[in-house]
Amino acid sequence: MRIAVLQERAAGETRVAATPETVRKFLALGASVAVERGAGELASISDAAFEEAGAELGLAAEVVRGAGIVLGVQAPDPALLDGAAPGAMVSALFEPFAPGAGRGRARVAAYAAAGLEALSLELMPRITRAQSMDVLSSQSNLAGYKAVLAAANQYGRALPMMMTAAGTISAAKVFVIGVGVAGLQAIATARRLGAQVSATDVRSATREQILSLGAKPVFVEAVAGIEGEGSGGYATEMSEDYQRAQAELVSAHIAKQDIVITTALIPGRAAPRLVSDAQIATMRPGSVIFDLAVAQGDGTGGNVEGSVADDVVERHGVSIMGYSNTPAHLPADASALFARNQFNFLSAFWDQEQGRPVLDEEIGNAVRLTRGGAVVNERLR
Ligand code: NAI
Repeated sequence: MRIAVLQERAAGETRVAATPETVRKFLALGASVAVERGAGELASISDAAFEEAGAELGLAAEVVRGAGIVLGVQAPDPALLDGAAPGAMVSALFEPFAPGAGRGRARVAAYAAAGLEALSLELMPRITRAQSMDVLSSQSNLAGYKAVLAAANQYGRALPMMMTAAGTISAAKVFVIGVGVAGLQAIATARRLGAQVSATDVRSATREQILSLGAKPVFVEAVAGIEGEGSGGYATEMSEDYQRAQAELVSAHIAKQDIVITTALIPGRAAPRLVSDAQIATMRPGSVIFDLAVAQGDGTGGNVEGSVADDVVERHGVSIMGYSNTPAHLPADASALFARNQFNFLSAFWDQEQGRPVLDEEIGNAVRLTRGGAVVNERLR
């Protein structure tokens, strides 16, 4: 089995889908690995390091030739995979529901037409045995951390309380909206930096988690349907009553906050709008909002009205920021974890006799988008 690793071609993508560590592990399974020259450069992995691990280095077409598995961070254009073995598996992020030309369903259709087997890592089920394969978790964790650092860097004041000869500086107040994987890491990071932290979510199970990190839970009380937990531990869309109560809660709380980190997502939908321009206007000048959901928005912002990906927008003296690809701002660690997720996934199903992964039904049916020339995924169909 030949495994190909291509350089990422999407704008702003700095990660790579394999590391020397995972190359060695794939070789130990009996596979060979070919890596496109320069693929690890932006993640601080040299060609020499890949070569030393036992990978063959080459140009894209050379690397892909005869490959039965292609690893990507973001799924490559199928035109690049012309020389791959018939029916080759491509394990990567496919954003199957993303709108726009050349993405989402259009790209999935192109994969089907090319006869490739597309494995969409973002559809990995949230089950215990798949935790080590879960790229959404590994990347969100780093994103939550980076969001706090970026916001702290933009903020013109310090986060911890400081008592100096020149007087005391009070601790910054940080409010985290959405306490999934990214939100939990944002809370922990802001606490480590000495901020006073509060947080909210629609899933009441997060209350205990917020408390255990030393932050203050801020929750909508006494509205029917408060339990926002849908399938797989994900959030669902909330009732209108709940949304109104949540908006009031955010209005009352946000005016006293210095930094707001928003992370709220609902699978398969645009990010819920949780902070309006009117609410931003009540914040102190110099405050900072980092919208981690900016790339999943509807075109007018993500969780925050008016946020623009990869830009800092000033509104009412408040800086609103967010990255289109936050994990790409920590390329070395993000690649290391992404690559391990890839290895943990494919090795868990490795069939020694066939020399290739044979996915089981539960995980195979969840992640497989295309096979044998057709779109086979239930959720997509
Ligand atoms: P996510 O990225 O889909 O959403 C982020 C957070 O936003 C979630 O906590 C969600 O409840 C919250 N949210 C959505 N709408 C909101 C609103 N209107 N207001 C406030 N908050 C809102 O979530 P993520 O990080 O992927 O985690 C989802 C769940 O999956 C968690 O329960 C997590 O513990 C669980 N999980 C399970 C794994 C496993 O067992 N393999 C792996 C990773 C996560």
